[in-house]
Amino acid sequence: MIAGVVALLAGIAVAGDGGRAPVDRTSVRDFLGRHWQRPITPQGTRPPGFSALEASLAPESCGTCHPAQHADWRTTLHARSMGPGVAGQLKDLRKGDPESARLCLTCHAPLAEQEPERRGIFDARLMSQGIVGAACHVREHRRFGPPRREPVTAASSPSAKIPHGGAIRTPAFLASEFCASCHQFSADGLALNDKPLENTFEEWRASPAATRGLQCQDCHMPDRRHLWRGIHDPEMVRSGVTITLATDRQHYRPDDEVRARLAIGNTGVGHHFPTYVTPRVVVRMALVDMHGRELRGSAEEHDIGRNVSVDLTLERSDTRIPAGGRFTVEYRRRLERTTGIRLRAEVRVEPDHFYTGFFESLLNGVGEGSREIAAALDGSRRSRYELYRRDIPLM
Ligand code: HEC
Ligand code: HEC
Ligand code: HEC
Ligand code: HEC
Repeated sequence: MIAGVVALLAGIAVAGDGGRAPVDRTSVRDFLGRHWQRPITPQGTRPPGFSALEASLAPESCGTCHPAQHADWRTTLHARSMGPGVAGQLKDLRKGDPESARLCLTCHAPLAEQEPERRGIFDARLMSQGIVGAACHVREHRRFGPPRREPVTAASSPSAKIPHGGAIRTPAFLASEFCASCHQFSADGLALNDKPLENTFEEWRASPAATRGLQCQDCHMPDRRHLWRGIHDPEMVRSGVTITLATDRQHYRPDDEVRARLAIGNTGVGHHFPTYVTPRVVVRMALVDMHGRELRGSAEEHDIGRNVSVDLTLERSDTRIPAGGRFTVEYRRRLERTTGIRLRAEVRVEPDHFYTGFFESLLNGVGEGSREIAAALDGSRRSRYELYRRDIPLM
């Protein structure tokens, strides 16, 4: 079986980091079709020669030998994918709609050992740890990973003594398809206005980044680090957008009209900005006085996002910026006061905007998970941050 997989994967061009050789997408898809089967096959009994540590699926066990990966992973949303927002909903779903509850786990805690229905192998602690290293790397106790970056030297060449029997290496770990299994709804999944609710992989396929051969991993796992920074991380977002602000003149006099333009270019995000329905990006432009106070009635706000109803039946608007695209706001205002007036432009990111409304509505129908949902609601409000702010003196 292992030999078969290895034979199948031999000869596939390596994509992603290192050389930009094309990926053999068909072989990658064949591999991933088996790798991301749902439900994932239980690991089974401990293979002969494996210590308890080598057979353990717990992330902290991997961390004893892979401390860097473990330390990175712990800081990510993948490690928190069974947070209170999911756990609280699951409490009620499991009673009313167990089939849906199972479906949630296929992305949020996908191992068979993380499924409560699997008596005998279920591990509640492992479930609460979300998308663990084993979810991506371990199948039937065999380790899978990307091809080596360094050529194998004699000292590191395979031998029977290598922990967990070494690893089966495949370029599928460097291809965007690897992530699609959870970050792209299938054609028959929930769609609004003919766009799947999660469409990141297809957006990526149509992006300039994909044309240049950049995979999800190249941006989200730089140098193979297990970081997966996204919309919740200001630096990551700044790396993907270019914001410019300009006024039509250098100086103004009373009664002049100021015309300003703020542009947000999606210059480095490999998909729409933002890709999901959950974040909202708010552009606010206003005039402020010499004390920094907004002049009444001068503020204008514009939303960037895919605005859907809380019950997911309706898309109200979609102002996301496709990769390579640009969003512009024109601001015009007649100036009245004479001194110290400035134009202020701000861009605020609310990564969990949708969830705020969604958790609020869940709390109305009191359920068993209400304590967790209340905590998740609080978290959804606290994740907002200022991405950009600039003042331009006008007179
Ligand atoms: C007892 C130490 C030990 C434990 C525990 C351990 N590993 Fe490893 N792992 C290693 C060593 C050593 C290598 C390098 C093998 C080689 O060079 O072929 C390795 C290689 C790997 C690779 C290949 C990565 C690469 O590019 O070299 C993956 C993936 C991997 N381990 C995943 C895991 C996961 C997931 C866990 C926990 C479920 C885990 N390992 C637990 C020691 C360990
Ligand atoms: C097993 C399913 C699964 C796989 C495979 C997976 N993800 Fe995720 N990912 C999730 C879930 C679920 C979340 C949300 C976790 C949460 O916030 O509860 C997430 C969150 C993220 C985020 C953070 C989003 C934010 O809001 O900031 C990024 C970035 C990300 N994933 C990128 C990737 C990339 C790149 C890959 C492929 C290398 C990948 N993911 C593979 C399920 C998965
Ligand atoms: C196809 C994979 C997939 C399935 C199935 C799925 N999710 Fe998610 N979920 C994601 C991804 C990816 C994110 C990250 C979106 C983001 O925050 O940017 C996410 C985010 C979330 C979040 C917000 C982050 C958090 O931890 O609070 C909640 C809550 C959530 N999902 C609940 C559920 C529930 C409940 C179900 C089942 C009804 C479910 N999900 C099914 C992929 C999935
Ligand atoms: C060229 C670099 C690049 C590539 C390629 C790329 N991303 Fe991103 N991604 C970003 C940046 C920058 C952000 C932060 C801005 C944002 O949230 O859109 C981001 C954000 C995200 C988020 C946060 C949620 C959100 O609503 O924006 C997720 C999830 C994500 N990416 C998944 C993926 C997946 C899956 C792929 C591959 C199909 C991928 N990314 C390819 C750069 C990239």
